[in-house]
Amino acid sequence: MSDIYIDEVSKHIGTEVTIKGWLYNKRSSGKLRFLTFRDGTGLLQGVMLKGEVDDGTFSLYDELTQESSLKATGIVRSDPRAPGGHELGIRTIEPIQIAAEYPITPKEHGVAFLMDHRHLWLRSSKQHAVLRVRDEVIRACRDFFTERGFVLVDAPIFTPAPSEGTTTLFETGYFDGKAYLTQSGQLYNEATAMAFGRVYCFGPTFRAEKSKTRRHLTEFWMVEPEMAFYDLEDTMVLAEDFIIFIVQRVLENRQKELAVLERDLEKLSKVGKPFPRITYGEAVEILKDEGKDFAWGQDFGAKDEETLSLRFDRPVIIHRYPLKCKAFYMKTDPQNSKLALCLDVLAPEGYGEIIGGGQREDSLRELEAKIKKDKLPMEAFQWYLDLRRYGSVPHAGFGLGIERTVTWICGRDHLREAIPFPRMLYRIYP
Ligand code: 4AD
Ligand code: MG
Repeated sequence: MSDIYIDEVSKHIGTEVTIKGWLYNKRSSGKLRFLTFRDGTGLLQGVMLKGEVDDGTFSLYDELTQESSLKATGIVRSDPRAPGGHELGIRTIEPIQIAAEYPITPKEHGVAFLMDHRHLWLRSSKQHAVLRVRDEVIRACRDFFTERGFVLVDAPIFTPAPSEGTTTLFETGYFDGKAYLTQSGQLYNEATAMAFGRVYCFGPTFRAEKSKTRRHLTEFWMVEPEMAFYDLEDTMVLAEDFIIFIVQRVLENRQKELAVLERDLEKLSKVGKPFPRITYGEAVEILKDEGKDFAWGQDFGAKDEETLSLRFDRPVIIHRYPLKCKAFYMKTDPQNSKLALCLDVLAPEGYGEIIGGGQREDSLRELEAKIKKDKLPMEAFQWYLDLRRYGSVPHAGFGLGIERTVTWICGRDHLREAIPFPRMLYRIYP
């Protein structure tokens, strides 16, 4: 007899095993009692027939409540009628704790209720599937950059100055002074790229987003590569390869989860080369063509991105936005002084932006002028300006939002499900 995880049952057909987990649900039919167990790796249906198990075990069926913890021992049988193709012919059950009445039942619950019970909601099959996909996406990100020779060099969380504008800064006390929670590791990446060539950082980032939308968290995870000697074109190619790599990995390794989520796999399998590339100017034309009242120079809102992304069957790269709607560090397009050498990647099916990035301003004089223009504190950026004083080179990078990517790949309609414990404008519990 051996203790096994449910995802290994197919290797134990005909043998006695013990599963340690929780009761997911139960039902009875005549002399049969069905108990579905979960252990974090999957679900397994257990079966007891009256007369085949001792009466004490059989009567546990009535005592065991949803989410009670237990050990169940029995023989693994292959059964095409059982969910997953296997079942456990129960011999004994050892309850560990009989759960109190579980608040999340198979009936419909409102979102506010589920979010208040996020610590329990994570056990439900769809939420469980989304977070398994998240794990796969994160591993794919790390593997992608490692395989290509990038070095992981993480950026700090406490920072002395903003990088993505002053309106979404979280300020915090820092001994006798103050600090800000990082909005992006980019500026530090630029320093480490000058030390290591190609780097990436991966960590939580914070933005005091005051809008309540389906696409904004106040705490989200971003993976940010930065490359010395890359220009905008090189960066577009890297972003394209990166997204294809992530989607392929999920399609290969998370089929079960995508099935639980009822994801349309055909849509995901279209994510291949080449991604369409359009300029900001062309995107504006598309919006006008769709009857939108859109003025050149504005940044795209969620609705605009939705419209644009619905035009294509795969992610679309939009490049060269007006400088005035982007952050101070963007390099000016030498062909047009109103434009930035930047890119956004919008996920299809209306999901919108998942990547933002571009080529960085590498001239000391230009960068100083940009910092002044945005009225940012020059003192706080002296270290950053040093990167242009000591061996400045063309360089570029981008950031991919993990939760936006997971939401799209899973086909969910809100970012809150793509992170274990979401932080939003009105939510910091649990
Ligand atoms: O476009 P953003 O603001 O770009 C940067 O921060 C750059 N400094 C990154 C870089 O070049 N290294 O953010 C990058 C991505 C977005 O495309 C989006 O996927 C995600 O981060 N993101 C958010 N995700 C969830 N909630 C929010 N409030 C987000 N803000 C940005
Ligand atoms: Mg952006």
